[in-house]
Amino acid sequence: MRKDLLGIKDLSKEEIIHLLQEAKKHKPKVMDKILRDFNLKNTSLTTLFYENSTRTKMSFLLAAEYLGAYADDLNISTSSVLKGESLVDTGMTIDAMGTNVIVIRHGMSGAAHLLAANVKASVINGGDGANEHPTQALLDMYTIWEKKGGFEGLNVTIVGDIANSRVARSNIFGLVKMGAKVTLAGPSTLLSGNMKALGVERITSNVAEAIKDADVVMGLRIQLERQKAVQFPSLPEYARFFGVSQEMLTHAKSDALIMHPGPVNRGVEFSTDIIDGEQSVILEQVENGVAMRMAVIEYLENARDVVIPQTTRRDNVIAMAQ
Ligand code: CP
Repeated sequence: MRKDLLGIKDLSKEEIIHLLQEAKKHKPKVMDKILRDFNLKNTSLTTLFYENSTRTKMSFLLAAEYLGAYADDLNISTSSVLKGESLVDTGMTIDAMGTNVIVIRHGMSGAAHLLAANVKASVINGGDGANEHPTQALLDMYTIWEKKGGFEGLNVTIVGDIANSRVARSNIFGLVKMGAKVTLAGPSTLLSGNMKALGVERITSNVAEAIKDADVVMGLRIQLERQKAVQFPSLPEYARFFGVSQEMLTHAKSDALIMHPGPVNRGVEFSTDIIDGEQSVILEQVENGVAMRMAVIEYLENARDVVIPQTTRRDNVIAMAQ
């Protein structure tokens, strides 16, 4: 049984299918409060976000509340982290208060693994550096599954800042595992050749070629905060050569889904008419994110009922992500 959700890499196909099916059951409860059954009244969840977030943090807090759990955020900017308290000490302190689930976002790849090895609580990775963002990929996969009915043979093109993207990595792990054909596109400075080893079909800087016959076009945010050097001349030039416009979209299938994990740089990754257009499922991704996070919290909590996790402490092996 599973204590933590740290990445899609170590999630089995069966677990992914289970979470998709569970998210489907939870989805009606997101918008209809009458349907909420508050099954997790004895659970408490804490968010521990060292990086900014709107979607991931809020949807975890709301997902927990829709399940009847206690949910609270440790505001890092007013916490003792600013007095120099370490990640592990902060996690162990929250753990000692009896929280059952900690959702962490951190700029370091492997931070969620480090925390998980040192606390009794279940740890959910809400994004660690450029490593993984597993619940984003799960909600993306849910959205694709709901709209397209499956994954086998689907052409999914991911366009943008691939090299710095934990969303890209988690989606590649998940989509390849489920049988989709993944193509990556973007400026060569933002593409990572070693992604071929993860099972992607094609890596190209020609966006028109990349989205030809695509069933799904997923844009990724240009993460200027993670780029150590200038990777393209300017945002307008990025938009001109690598952004997806309505004209560019004619290369994809006519019913291709437009997806983006958010936040979107309007007019950069996608033109505004595409973001707000009929093929866009960007806000449905957000709604599905709450349902999927309900499924993930419940999955880990049910696993806790079966197996009482052994306490792991700082002298245990620190399992890094890579
Ligand atoms: N997609 C995503 O992780 O968004 P936030 O940074 O707003 O959580």
